[in-house]
Amino acid sequence: MTPEATTDAGREATDLARRTSAGLLHRVEDRLRSLLAAERAGWAGVHERAVVPVDALRELIASGGKRIRPAFCITGYLAAGGDPEDPGIVAAGAALEMLHVSALVHDDVLDDSDQRRGRPTVHTRHARLHADEGWQGESRRYGEGVAILVGDLALVYSGELMAEAPRTVAPEWHRLRSEVMVGQYLDVHAAAEFSVDPRGSRLVDLQGSRLIARIKSGRYTIHRPLVVGALAAGRHDLAPAFEEYGEAVGEAFQLRDDLLDAFGDPADTGKPTGLDFTQHKMTLLLGWAMQRDEHIHTLITEPGHTPDEVRRRLLDMAVPADVEKHIADLVERGCKAIADAPVDQVWRGELADLAVRVAYRNA
Ligand code: IPE
Ligand code: IPE
Ligand code: MG
Ligand code: MG
Ligand code: MG
Repeated sequence: MTPEATTDAGREATDLARRTSAGLLHRVEDRLRSLLAAERAGWAGVHERAVVPVDALRELIASGGKRIRPAFCITGYLAAGGDPEDPGIVAAGAALEMLHVSALVHDDVLDDSDQRRGRPTVHTRHARLHADEGWQGESRRYGEGVAILVGDLALVYSGELMAEAPRTVAPEWHRLRSEVMVGQYLDVHAAAEFSVDPRGSRLVDLQGSRLIARIKSGRYTIHRPLVVGALAAGRHDLAPAFEEYGEAVGEAFQLRDDLLDAFGDPADTGKPTGLDFTQHKMTLLLGWAMQRDEHIHTLITEPGHTPDEVRRRLLDMAVPADVEKHIADLVERGCKAIADAPVDQVWRGELADLAVRVAYRNA
């Protein structure tokens, strides 16, 4: 074959890979919508109020989201040689998105956030409704109560969906779900401990922030969805390479999320900025900042300081530039981790592409 033919063949293979992934992602979307439509129809026959929790999920899913977790699951599956016609992988992708939606609804209560995907968060919307209608009890408690239940409902649906995937994914699915919960606990706890002298806490430093980011976010977003995909295709052997790739790219994903919280535009991200500072979150970004600048901790904890002051200090200390360098290293590390993985070259390219997309997104 001439080099040109090789290039053409390579291009064709990439196009085919992308069309296959896009087709599966499209089916994930249909699966999510059809499950919720069927649930809504069922509950509508019970009582007009009973559709409210299902509608909250339908709205959140319809209002956007990057679908990163289904994308990694499908890529892991196809890279592992899985059959694109198997409906089990569509259900697995949908389950991962549904679990994510559950985590988001709860996360916004934990973080006291009022915007998600460009719309009011579930607890905020229901607290307002409660106040507007003059219902009994505390509006905030009502809103948060509704959000707990809506998030739990999504968790139940995610379990139902994953039950349609091959049984081989079960242990990974269990680890993935339990990690999100424990990681979120560590995140909340580190914020509570944040104002205590950081030298007295093993969570309020760079190592602690890395542990939290990995457990609450990186693993359920990248590493484990990839492994779920590989296991669904019967390829246990890919787990180590996917883990190494996922740990690096997962850290880059969360660092970008932290940068977007600090410096992003809510019009792009659909969520508030500066929340991590006001909530005293022990983010990876802050872990990096605290390593080079002790004053940043004081700036965040002392009353009267604004997120703008923290932003300015981070820029003065060149923290964002430093973090960008680290993100670039992480993407490179991720790509190296799959360079020798026993998957087709096309899929190594697709994984490299995905790493860049999650690390350099603006939303
Ligand atoms: C946000 O995840 C929550 C984190 C784990 C940081 P995404 O950035 O993937 O959010 P959506 O799904 O696109 O809204
Ligand atoms: C959320 O992390 C992680 C989960 C949803 C499990 P963040 O709190 O940083 O996510 P955002 O920034 O609110 O999306
Ligand atoms: Mg949050
Ligand atoms: Mg959070
Ligand atoms: Mg965040």
